[in-house]
Amino acid sequence: MKINENYRNLKESYLFSTISRKVSEYQKEHPDAKLIRLGIGDVTIPLCGAAVEAMKAACDEMGRKDSFHGYGPEQGYDFLRESVQGYYRQKGVSLGLDEIFISDGAKSDLGNILDLFGADNRVLIPDPVYPVYVDTNIMAGREIIYLDANMENGFLPLPDPGVPADIIYLCSPNNPTGAVYNREQLRAWVDYATAQNAVILFDAAYEAFISDPSLPESIMEIEGADRCAIEFCSFSKTAGFTGTRCGYTIVPKNLVFDGMKLNSMWLRRQTTKFNGVPYIVQRGAAAVFTPEGLKQCKEAVDYYRENARIMCEAFQEVGIEYIGGKNSPYVWIRCPNGMGSWEYFDYLLHELNVVGTPGEGFGKNGEGYLRLTAFGDRDNTIEAMNRIRNSMKK
Ligand code: MLT
Repeated sequence: MKINENYRNLKESYLFSTISRKVSEYQKEHPDAKLIRLGIGDVTIPLCGAAVEAMKAACDEMGRKDSFHGYGPEQGYDFLRESVQGYYRQKGVSLGLDEIFISDGAKSDLGNILDLFGADNRVLIPDPVYPVYVDTNIMAGREIIYLDANMENGFLPLPDPGVPADIIYLCSPNNPTGAVYNREQLRAWVDYATAQNAVILFDAAYEAFISDPSLPESIMEIEGADRCAIEFCSFSKTAGFTGTRCGYTIVPKNLVFDGMKLNSMWLRRQTTKFNGVPYIVQRGAAAVFTPEGLKQCKEAVDYYRENARIMCEAFQEVGIEYIGGKNSPYVWIRCPNGMGSWEYFDYLLHELNVVGTPGEGFGKNGEGYLRLTAFGDRDNTIEAMNRIRNSMKK
């Protein structure tokens, strides 16, 4: 047996596993330390009441012979796909039901979608970036071309027509920087992808955090995106599903490459390798789109937004340069006093007992930066900011 040699090219462990290990080791050595975790973007507000009630009812259905569900459709139940369809309709985007695929979250599908593409495609990935895009392509042995995102371009790099690419990753609102592309910028990406005959893999997991109505929440709002883009979205950050697992992927039927429809290929892939998301979870996810569910989720998102505002205010006050935090749950700060990412990460962990994510973990352009999430609870967020304020005064 020969192993997949590409795994030798990966970093030893996934970024968030490395951080989790470092934090556990520290906590073990300092059991009394009151750690505030603003590292991984994990939510702290429990599932919204509407989703909980729907899941309880679905549990009861599963326990009765007349309403039990066995294998479901791999691409999701129509009741949830119709809800997603309605959600997009409100954004002015019209989707066919068969263009919506229910998943167990954006991360899985962002990795799995690569099954559809040949090994010799050139992959364009902004740096810094959510490490899943890079690691999954390294696993598949693809050539990666990095696109510099930095303070100069507001961490929103635009396409260079002189650089050819076949697969393009975009994430807006961005993980890790919190920067958000405007309509004209996304238009430029759609035009570039169309000219290159490339596909854009658009990660919209943080769309619910956009409060500026002029900013696009979906790449599908841009004319022509249905011929060059696939969109990935998730209930994780919007509805607290990080532990419950549900998301959706939009694969337009107009996506045709070499005479093959990506939509049909994805259906073929999913029906072969995936058995669908549990009925109970899909019932919970559908409840997120009811008026009650939408209201409850908005309250949670507003709570995190207020955390982000509190964080931005603190950084402003102590003169730490930052971006994000406005239409995004992430605040991306420049490490003070010229510290490196891991150096500041260690300082925060050891001296202030605050956990962040070192920018370098998201790519070379993240060196000298650190990401903090607004998903903590309010008191902890305020306390973490006070600790940082005091440390800056020293
Ligand atoms: C993050 O912290 O970047 C995210 O929580 C990771 C994820 O969504 O998988």
